[in-house]
Amino acid sequence: MIKRILARIENFFYRHILKNLLKLSKLGYGTIITGAESGANFEHMYNNHPEGRFIIGRYIDKVLLNLPAVQATRGRKEDIKRVLWNEIYNNKLANKKTHVLDLASGGARYLRELTDEHQNGDIESLCIDKDRTCVKLGENLAAGAQLSNIRFFQGDIFHLNHLRDMSLRVRWKPNVVIASGLFIYFDANAVEKMLKEIYDFLPYKGLVIFSSYENLSSRKLMRKVASTSSGEEWTLYYRKPDYWRSLLHRIGFDQIFILRDQWQMNNICTARK
Ligand SMILES: C[S@@+](CC[C@H](N)C(=O)[O-])C[C@H]1O[C@@H](n2cnc3c(N)ncnc32)[C@H](O)[C@@H]1O
Repeated sequence: MIKRILARIENFFYRHILKNLLKLSKLGYGTIITGAESGANFEHMYNNHPEGRFIIGRYIDKVLLNLPAVQATRGRKEDIKRVLWNEIYNNKLANKKTHVLDLASGGARYLRELTDEHQNGDIESLCIDKDRTCVKLGENLAAGAQLSNIRFFQGDIFHLNHLRDMSLRVRWKPNVVIASGLFIYFDANAVEKMLKEIYDFLPYKGLVIFSSYENLSSRKLMRKVASTSSGEEWTLYYRKPDYWRSLLHRIGFDQIFILRDQWQMNNICTARK
């Protein structure tokens, strides 16, 4: 009985008090109203400049932007950049260009921040996202930074027939495939199918880079207040490094490398065909 009352009080607090307070901040508003997983929300986390309605909104935004889960998101972007940077210069040694296909790219911040490498033509990027707003956002930010060699397309990566067909259509073949902030939203079957498709699609020695959450410090908060942009139920899949290691191995990937962040939340997984 007491447990039930306490649960009701807690629900009331999250749904009616905390939710309305959080909506005053830019990150809170994005997470509750426009979709927690949207590329625009992630751009705001990467920018790390508090915004919101009134002083209180900006203050709440500052608190949210400093949550370990949000710091870990910024951290994963840096880790992805490090892996990419290393790959670009190794490829350069072998007189190869790095061609990156970014699946569910959002604004592809980790790619856009490799500015010189894009300008020099050492890397070419093709970014795909199903959300038109994200595609526009990526295009505008890339154009604003006068970035060349990076393109954004709208598309659902699960309805592309085969990545191979798409690659033939645009006459361009990647040697790196990225999926950052994607697999957490999909169940084991979908993830395995996508990784198999990536494996088939990559050339020999091609690299896959993806992020995965093994934990999220604000799990409860997200479950109680967050919504996805499609309004669907918020289901997240947390997976340990061992899960990825055996899946990647089973599919045939080699040189599996899994980087655990300092918060033990995000893992960056890389593997070669
Ligand atoms: C959490 S954001 C990640 C953005 C970016 N990759 C990053 O790590 O900063 C997830 C993105 O996946 C996109 N997305 C989700 N399902 C997708 C699908 N089936 N096809 C293409 N994009 C998808 C969403 O529109 C959103 O922009």
